[in-house]
Parts: sequence; structure tokens; C-alpha cells
Amino acid sequence: MDKIVIEGGTPLRGEVHNSGAKNAALPILTASLLTSGCNFFRRVPDLVDIRTIKKLLGGLGVRFVEGEALGVDATDLTGIEASYDLVRTMRASILVLGPLLARTGEARVSLPGGCAIGARPVNLHIRALQEMGAEVNLKDGYIEAKAARLKGATIYFDLPTVTGTENIMMAACLADGTTLLKNAAREPEVSNLAEVLRGMGARITGDGTDVIRIDGCPSLHPTEGEIIPDRIEAGTFMIAAGITGGDVTVVDADPGHHDALIAKLRDAGMTIEIRDKAIRAAGGRIVSVDVKTLPYPGFPTDLQAQMMAMMAVGPGLSVITETVFENRFMHVGELIRMGADIVIQGNSAVVRGVPRLRGAPVMATDLRASACLILAGLAAEGKTVLSRVYHLDRGYEKIEKKFAALGARMERVKG
Ligand code: UD1
Repeated sequence: MDKIVIEGGTPLRGEVHNSGAKNAALPILTASLLTSGCNFFRRVPDLVDIRTIKKLLGGLGVRFVEGEALGVDATDLTGIEASYDLVRTMRASILVLGPLLARTGEARVSLPGGCAIGARPVNLHIRALQEMGAEVNLKDGYIEAKAARLKGATIYFDLPTVTGTENIMMAACLADGTTLLKNAAREPEVSNLAEVLRGMGARITGDGTDVIRIDGCPSLHPTEGEIIPDRIEAGTFMIAAGITGGDVTVVDADPGHHDALIAKLRDAGMTIEIRDKAIRAAGGRIVSVDVKTLPYPGFPTDLQAQMMAMMAVGPGLSVITETVFENRFMHVGELIRMGADIVIQGNSAVVRGVPRLRGAPVMATDLRASACLILAGLAAEGKTVLSRVYHLDRGYEKIEKKFAALGARMERVKG
């Protein structure tokens, strides 16, 4: 298995290109299930999770045309099942449930089960489909859903679930009548999906707010669309500039998606300059700040671990509170091995800054925890060897090349 070896202590400098967003590309690729004909999407990132969803869609009969824009053709569907083998490697596989059911009247999707960052149930997806008239049974670890035609309904989400909102929004496009999603997720990735669905002829309003209205249509047609920039990747590079005392400009980004992060990084002593489609982030003397994760537009849970790495070398005390996922502190033990002083109290981590971290062999447990350990390694004295790099490859495109181009002493060792 590959490892990433980092020799810390170099301030990162230069420009880095922001890739397309994994979390937007995943639902947008599955939305192709709603149409007959070939869709074309630009800026699909080259990531393990994207290969996984292509494998899953391929198993359902979807064909791909590789090119600058990825062609996705779901004209002839041959299957209705997302197997355990694929779903357990990527929970977002659940995103096929809504569109598959709406298009074919049937879907069989493995229940994802637990994962490294908590139980992460899919009860809200299931309940919403039931409210739209689907018959849903849980059998042999699978969700088996049937509905000749879904019916529009008013759905209240107990929590603003991102993939839940996306799944039901897709299903509602082909439903009979109007669906209202209340307490819907407001993430930019939801709006990116809504924009693509509108391109397919769907009638959707309110995306980006917590009430989304979908007026169902009998059918949709193929479209062309573009994936938005990955705000988590961009944020990771901005925090990398802060933790190394460097100066990094993320180009091809969308500064409008970063309000909570930018405010927090400025409070933490960084200089952030917003340009048209670029963000310049320059480190200064780090100031310890408190962070609380929240659904968008709050501080993203997917940047919590990276921010903790920076606070680990702050001058004082920082309380980092995770409100979106239970158990999302798997990186803490590894940071402690690098010399950090962190105590977990319930859903908060109390971080007492230390003057410097020390390189160590560390192990990734999930995608964002891996990014945190990369940042810690960049700031640490000496050598850090990160194993289980496959977590990182799920969500960061060409990560070691991008960091190396900014001056990081980082390389991948094939194993
Ligand atoms: C998505 C993102 C993930 C991000 C997360 C929160 C994708 C592919 N993944 O994950 O990177 O960390 O949003 O921003 O877009 N919940 C339930 N029941 C449900 C669904 C969710 O209780 O049926 C809970 C979850 O356990 C969690 C909260 O709702 O506590 C939010 O989770 P959710 O927004 O659904 O996360 P994902 O969509 O899986």
C-alpha cells in the first residue's frame, strides 16, 4: 500500500488549481440515471470515489464516454442493484436510490452500515421515499424500494442531510405533483445538482435555501453541466498556507463558498485576499480560535480536522466542537503522537497549542483525517510517513503533486 513521506518545515508558496468538487460530481453523475441519452459533464475530478460511482453506475448499464467532458449515458439500464461491496467502500453510493427508483420503479441498495466517523444512518432518505408513496423493505442488509410512480409530498428533514436532500430532490423530479423539502441542506453542491437537473428540464426552485420546491415532470432529457470547484480541497490548501506560514493562491475557486472559513482564518491571524476566481491565503502569527462545525453556511465538518492541525501549533487554547458527526475525532490520537496537546470532552476537542509538532509514522482513518495529518506533517519538524493513503485518494486529486508544486517536500512511495 502506498505511503506519503513528508519532510516538514517548508512554507508553501505559489498557485494551485482547484479541482472539481467530489461531493458535487457524485450526485450529478447519478442524476444521469434520470435521463435517456448522453449527458456531458465538465470538471469531473479524477478520484477513487469517482471511479467507484462509475463502477456502480456501469453495473446498472450506464455507459461512459471519456473526454474533456465526461459523457454519461443511461439510455439502457440493465440493473437495479447497488451491491454491499461497492456501498461499503463509499457511502455516497446511496445516491443511486432516489433516481433509480424514480426512473425504473425499483431499486435495491445495500445499507451502508457504520463507518469511521459514526453511525451515519440513512433513515431520512428512506422515510422521505415512503412519504412519496414508495414501498420500502429492509431485507438481508438491503433497502428494497418499489413505486410505480412516486407522488409529490411535503417532507421535513429532521436534520439538513446533504445526500438525503440530493437523493429526494432527484427522485421528486419524476414524481407526480409537487414536492417540498423543508429543512433541506443548503450546501453549494445541492445547488450545483439542482442547476444540472434544471438543465435536464426539471422544475426546481429554492435550492440554496432550506425549502426546495420540485414540480415533477413525466420525463427529463440529457444535458451538459459543469462541476463546481471543490471547496474542501481549496480550504485544505488555505489552511496549509496558514500552518506552514506560507502564501498560497488557490485559482479556479469560488470565493463565495468560503465565508465561514475565510472569517475564521482571518480571526486566526491569516491574510485572505479574494479575487475574481481565486483566493490568496497567507500565514501570519497564528492566533488560537474556537471552531464549531455546522451545516452550510456554517464551518464545514470536512475542514474540522485540518483546522485542528493548525490550532495544534497555535499560541493558546482552542475549543473545536463537532456538531455534525459523532466520533469525528479519529485524527486526535495521531496528532497527539506528533506532539499535539489535545483532550476530547464529549463532542469538543480542547487543543492547547504547542510550539511545534514532530514528524512521526501516522495512519489515516478517513478522508479528512488524512488531510489533517498531511498538514501536520508539513508543519512538523522532521519526517512524517502517512500510511493508508487510499483514504486520501478518495477525495484529493494529485495531492502530492499539487503540494510539491507549492514547495512541499512530499513524495508518494509505492508499496
Ligand atoms: C455529506 C458529504 C460529507 C459531509 C457531510 C456533512 C457527500 C457525498 N458527503 O455526507 O462529505 O461531511 O455531508 O457536510 O456529499 N443523518 C441522519 N439520518 C439520515 C441522514 C443523515 O441521522 O438519513 C445525520 C448524519 O448522521 C449526520 C447528519 O445527519 O449527523 C448530516 O449528515 P449528511 O448531511 O447526511 O451527510 P452525508 O450526506 O452522508
